[in-house]
Amino acid sequence: MTDQTLIILGATGDLTGRLLLPGLGALLTAGHVPGLTLIGAAVDDWDDTRWRARVHDAFGDAPAVAETADRTRYLRTDVTHADDLRRLLGEARGSVAIFFALPPAVTAEACRALLDVDLPEGTRLVLEKPFGTGSAAAAELNALLARLVPEERVHRVDHFLGKSTVLNILGLRFANRIFEPLLDNTHVESVEIVFDEDLALENRAGYYDHAGALADMIQSHLLQILGLLAMEAPFALEAAEFRDRKSDVLRATRPWSDDPAECSLRARYTAGELGGRQFSSYADEPGVDPDRGTETLAELIVAVDTWRWAGVPFRLRSGKALGSRRKEAVITFKKPPRVPDGLRGCDQPDRLRIGFGPDRLAVDFNINGPGDPFVLDPVTLAAEFGEGDLPPYGEVLRGVFEDDPTLSVRADTAERCWRIVEPVTEAWRAGKVPLREYPAGSCGPTLPLP
Ligand code: BG6
Repeated sequence: MTDQTLIILGATGDLTGRLLLPGLGALLTAGHVPGLTLIGAAVDDWDDTRWRARVHDAFGDAPAVAETADRTRYLRTDVTHADDLRRLLGEARGSVAIFFALPPAVTAEACRALLDVDLPEGTRLVLEKPFGTGSAAAAELNALLARLVPEERVHRVDHFLGKSTVLNILGLRFANRIFEPLLDNTHVESVEIVFDEDLALENRAGYYDHAGALADMIQSHLLQILGLLAMEAPFALEAAEFRDRKSDVLRATRPWSDDPAECSLRARYTAGELGGRQFSSYADEPGVDPDRGTETLAELIVAVDTWRWAGVPFRLRSGKALGSRRKEAVITFKKPPRVPDGLRGCDQPDRLRIGFGPDRLAVDFNINGPGDPFVLDPVTLAAEFGEGDLPPYGEVLRGVFEDDPTLSVRADTAERCWRIVEPVTEAWRAGKVPLREYPAGSCGPTLPLP
């Protein structure tokens, strides 16, 4: 195997410490990319010692990580300066991947600076969501990236695509006979993809107050899950085919109604109690500008205009500081056409539920339970899965080092996902959908399904 180097731009940031380094450590511990050269770069006045301590902390002490963690270097870098970037690349060995763990605007500037740098043959560029700040910015960024490296070497990572249960959607749908024939508008009443978190802002105001729940979760992660749930069967799980199928379905996705007030909801949390902790109001969190009106809970009902899904509402919802901690995709089936006279109590629809933490699959249905044989009882068949071998960031990084972009978001899809939500963000900005409030620790408001 050739030598590999990973350069992290934004090495001192929150993403690097919280997710990227632990994911990388797990990948190395599992025996992938042996001898990886890791270079941390950021504008902060850090040195090798401080950076190595951060890497050791995140990597743990498995023998497989020692070489990388002991040798890693930190270079103080202005990522918007070509000379600085050239100096960084001078430290690289073998095949190079550059990870932009930076805010969208700085990523764009760093890419512009890279135009003046000779990138080593085979360089891969790894970008974190959000890809730009809207479809125009995403298109501009994509055009810039296309001048740097070919599309298959751009990895727009969405770590939800590295989550084991999200990937399980593919096996569940396409490796079984029993579910797939029912997944269409003849049998399905509605689909919900919900990611309600009990976490609040977690000191991320600098990023989150500009993003909000719609861009942070729905425009990115939840639309990717929708892509997997609603796509047609790919003939192979290889990059071009898989990404084509996902893109087909996202091209057919749009807000349910022309009136965003009917199909979208935005709200932010006020003070409340959650798990015995007191939370202050989002508007009072340090670093938040309350006048920006950032939502901490967003809901959007979309239509998927394909032959298979036309007429089925898909509810996408995510919020912070919620009491319910519900993270799942739920497919609700239509009622049976007729229940024989004499069978009573059958008012719960069948449901297929895919849980994203804990990882779980459950089917709810009705049966003549143990009591009165003519009274139906709801039952659930459930399977709990352990976590995948690699954490989501480990999984997506594996794709980068193996030059396999299957799990990365293609340029057209990144732009498309912005276009899906833009009619809604425009209406929100114009004040056409009121910003509601919910106390931290409550279930938050929701929209009625059409
Ligand atoms: C991130 C969002 O992309 O995903 C966070 O920025 C969110 O706001 C997180 O909390 C959820 O993912 P996970 O894998 O940590 O549950």
